[in-house]
Amino acid sequence: MELLNRLPYPTGLSKEEILDLLFREEYGYLPKKPDSVTVKVENPGIHHFAGKGYLARLSLTIHAEFGEFTFPFYYVYPLNTGKKVPAFIHINFRDGISDRYQPAEEILDRGYALFTFCYENVTSDNSDFTNGLAGLVYPGGKRSPDSCGKLGLWAYAASALLDYAVTLPEIDADKISVVGHSRLGKTALLAGAIDERFYCAFSNDSGCGGAALARENTGETVRAITKNFPFWFCENYQKYIDNEENMPFDQHWLISANLPHRAYVASAEGDTWACPQNEYLSCVAASKYYEENGKTGFIPDGDTPKLRNPLHEGMIGHHMRPGLHFLSREDWNYYIDYLEKQFSK
Ligand code: GCU
Repeated sequence: MELLNRLPYPTGLSKEEILDLLFREEYGYLPKKPDSVTVKVENPGIHHFAGKGYLARLSLTIHAEFGEFTFPFYYVYPLNTGKKVPAFIHINFRDGISDRYQPAEEILDRGYALFTFCYENVTSDNSDFTNGLAGLVYPGGKRSPDSCGKLGLWAYAASALLDYAVTLPEIDADKISVVGHSRLGKTALLAGAIDERFYCAFSNDSGCGGAALARENTGETVRAITKNFPFWFCENYQKYIDNEENMPFDQHWLISANLPHRAYVASAEGDTWACPQNEYLSCVAASKYYEENGKTGFIPDGDTPKLRNPLHEGMIGHHMRPGLHFLSREDWNYYIDYLEKQFSK
C-alpha cells in the first residue's frame, strides 16, 4: 500500500480539470460533442430469443462540426416487461448480437436492453487515421500531439449512441451503462468520464491505460503499450515511457473522472498482463475523490483483491473472477448484481 502514498491525487480539482490533464497527457482531446444524431432502422422488428425480445439492426448518424458519420449497431430489448428497462451499451470487438463476450439472451432475461456496436465500424484499430470517424476528424489522417487517439474516438461513438438510447420510451434513460473488455474496457472508462449521463462504466480486464495504476505495474508498461498501440493514445503519452513515476496523474484519475456516476473494475485472476493488483489499488485510490465529493467510493476488503468476492456497496464496484483475459457470463452476472444492488439504494 506504500504505492498509494506516492500517487498524485486530484484533490480539489474539478472534473473538467481532471479530464483536461488526461486529455492533454494521455488520451488526447476529443472532437466536440455531436450537434445531433439520427437513426435509421435497417432491419426491424425481428422477434428473437423465443419471442422474448425485439431485435433490430440500425445505423446511427452523428451530425457534428466535422461533418456526418454513420455506423451500424444492434439493439435488443425485452418485451412485455410493463416498465421502462435499464440498458447496456456494449462496445464490442465483433459485429452482431450474442457473441462469445456477450450472452445477450441472459442479459435480456435479467431484464436489460442491449445496444452494441463493433468498434472497428467506427474506425480501424491501427495507426491509419484516414478511415471512418478518424478520417473525418483528421483530414489527411494527420493529428497533433494532443489530439485523441483511437480510444477517444471509440468512446465518442459510445457517447453518441447514448444520445439516441436516452430518447427511447421503453428505456430507463437514467440507467444506461457502458461496458467494454480490455482495450474496450479502457474505452468504456473514458466514455464514462466524458459523458455524465451514464449510470456506470464497466471496465473488464482493462489493465494499462485503463483501470490499472501505471506505477509499479507488474504487467503491461507504458513502454510496452505505446510500442504496440501508440495510436490508442495521444502522442504526449510517450513522455511517460520508463517515466511512470513522473506522471502528474495515474489511472485512478480516469476512474475519478467518472463522477458523478459509478465506475466498475472487473479483473481476472489469471490476467497478469492487466495487473489485477493495480486495478484494485486504483479503485482504492479513486475512492478518495468520490469521498471528497460526498460519495461513497470504494469499500475495499484488504490490500489485495480476493477471488469471487464482489465489492458492490460503493459507487466504485469491483470483482475478480478466476480465469484468463475474457469477458465472460460470470462478469456480466456480477455487473447485473451490482446494478441491482445500486438501483435498490
Ligand atoms: C493487448 C494490450 C492490452 C489490451 C489487450 C486487448 O494485450 O497489450 O493493453 O488491453 O491487448 O485489448 O485485448
